[in-house]
Amino acid sequence: MKQKIAAVRSDFDLDIKSAKSAADIENLRVKYLGKKGPVQQLMKDLRDASPEERPELGKWLNVLKEEITQHLHEKEATLHQSEQDAKLVEEKIDVTLPGNNRFLGSKHVLTEVLDSIIDIMVSMGFSVQYGPDIDTDYYNFEALNFPENHPARDMQDTFYITPSVLLRTHTSNIQARVMEAHKPPLRIIAPGKVYRNEAITARSHVFFHQVEGLYVDQGVTFVDLIATMKEFLSKLFKREIPTRFRPSYFPFVEPGLEVDVLCLSCEGKGCNLCKHTGWLEIAGAGMVHPEVLKNGGIDSEIYTGYAWGMGIERLALIKHGIHDIRLFTENDQRFLSQFVSI
Ligand code: DAH
Repeated sequence: MKQKIAAVRSDFDLDIKSAKSAADIENLRVKYLGKKGPVQQLMKDLRDASPEERPELGKWLNVLKEEITQHLHEKEATLHQSEQDAKLVEEKIDVTLPGNNRFLGSKHVLTEVLDSIIDIMVSMGFSVQYGPDIDTDYYNFEALNFPENHPARDMQDTFYITPSVLLRTHTSNIQARVMEAHKPPLRIIAPGKVYRNEAITARSHVFFHQVEGLYVDQGVTFVDLIATMKEFLSKLFKREIPTRFRPSYFPFVEPGLEVDVLCLSCEGKGCNLCKHTGWLEIAGAGMVHPEVLKNGGIDSEIYTGYAWGMGIERLALIKHGIHDIRLFTENDQRFLSQFVSI
């Protein structure tokens, strides 16, 4: 029996040397210590040993069992450690290598310009309102003093959906809605997309963006309009910018005017962007026509107001010296990424 114990021991020593994984260790545990394994068998054999030998053999067997258990344990720990070390080597990260460049999304340049417009106007006490892109002839034209068949309607080539429903041609469609819904004083801006049935060129598009401004209260004057416009522009361009106001005609204002700013691309010397005039038109404006106030349910004997409509693309063109309005909607990353602000 002593020989048998020694044989089991040396078999085990050989086996454990060749164990390479946690699964091997588990197999050895079953093989040697399991119910059908040699250690259990020896335990049974012990019963047949003579009473004199039994205590000593029993001790040997216990030592064998303990040593097998301990060796299995130790080997398991070493295997685990070396697996861990191998993994560390394999997954080693060289933190000094240059990283992959990630593409960063950002605000579209038009959104950025619109956001600054909103910030400035809100700081001047205006609130932001929105009107529908699809509107009725009434709000887009009639309420704004464009009578039916009036030639002024031809100023804006309109996409009609039905004879009385259309894609708004300007954000001025908000005016009568705001006047109907609120009592003066009214001080709002209304940004949004507008649509015109025009040829797409470097300077015109079938859709673009405007911001409408409307201020109605007692005692609002032309001077308020000019002063607000100037203040707004110097805040937007972050400098005092030469401005020019020219008389113009829009059925919904009287008097009406167009607002030009000095062309920043050439500082007024004349270039392609300003068609060599040195000036760029950015807005239409004027004092709200009494008829429009009346249509909005406001007494024109008590209240006066001013309104303006500004092209957002125009402001972005001027601010960034862009020469083609089509670039805003072509989604060319080379163009858009120039305006990424981080
Ligand atoms: N709605 C005009 C356009 O799109 C711009 C405009 C002119 C708006 C004068 C106004 C205004 O509010 O008073 O051409």
